[in-house]
Amino acid sequence: MITDFQNWAKSRQVCIETSLQTLLPAANVAPERLHKAMRYAVLGGGKRVRPLLAFAAGELSEANEGRVTIAAAAVELIHAYSLVHDDLPCMDDDVLRRGKPTCHVEYDEPTALLVGDSLQSLAFQLLTEYRLADTAQVQLEMIKQLAQAAGSRGMAGGQAIDLANVGKILSLPELEFMHIHKTGALIRAAVMLGARCGSSLNDAQLENLDHFAKHIGLAFQVVDDVLDAEATTAILGKTAGKDAEHNKPTYVTILGVSRARELAEELRRDAYQALEGFDSAAKRLRQVTDFIIQREF
Ligand code: IPE
Ligand code: IPE
Ligand code: MG
Ligand code: MG
Ligand code: MG
Repeated sequence: MITDFQNWAKSRQVCIETSLQTLLPAANVAPERLHKAMRYAVLGGGKRVRPLLAFAAGELSEANEGRVTIAAAAVELIHAYSLVHDDLPCMDDDVLRRGKPTCHVEYDEPTALLVGDSLQSLAFQLLTEYRLADTAQVQLEMIKQLAQAAGSRGMAGGQAIDLANVGKILSLPELEFMHIHKTGALIRAAVMLGARCGSSLNDAQLENLDHFAKHIGLAFQVVDDVLDAEATTAILGKTAGKDAEHNKPTYVTILGVSRARELAEELRRDAYQALEGFDSAAKRLRQVTDFIIQREF
């Protein structure tokens, strides 16, 4: 039976897919090969968890759906760029992503590098081209938040820590620091950008939402580590077992699978607690949280 959440998620995934199709440069516009590769990296795959979070947070703040769609697309473009670069031979050296050959395998390494660069630029271009918030000041803060989340004190910084610690044993706080940056920062930006497209939340509520986002951001990578160890390549659409093969420090290497799963459950409880003041308006956020913890890929 298809649940109410599955219906909602499907409709949001279709919405973001359709928007990304038109927001990305057409494949027949020069330079065609780069534009084709950008479309290859973004379209037709992925769970679209960050857009789902932006839409769910936008429902909470009574945001205009068109605005949230652009914010969600911008975050997803940054995410897609991070995956293309993460898969490069100089990083995780992966050949499979979203059930297809990785961008550098399908095209070539220089193209994949430029795909990442161009997707990142496009994300910020979108945030300046469309009106997303009631005031220019809020919109500027949103742009700053995404820039920080993507940069050296966010995702890119987390990736640097990841690469610097191959083969090392990290303490739990060190591992948490890495995961909060490489994955948590962008998840947090997805929630907050979605929420800030609307104006019904006060500062205290936005702070609670940010606490929520921090917990699910960490939970997301804890579950990613567990799935890398437990799931199959066919289900994941990316090569399973790569973390162990590459000697990456993960929650599975430090805690083992069952304690890592328990930690994900604890983070779900913390996330729910942060939403306590919101009642049924946060229904979708709670559902996306459950999906993040329970997902099989
Ligand atoms: C994978 O992210 C990379 C991480 C940050 C853990 P997702 O699991 O969201 O990948 P897609 O977008 O669904 O392919
Ligand atoms: C990547 O983490 C996080 C990013 C910023 C892309 P992983 O290296 O664990 O992601 P997967 O498992 O390859 O998707
Ligand atoms: Mg990686
Ligand atoms: Mg990887
Ligand atoms: Mg992983």
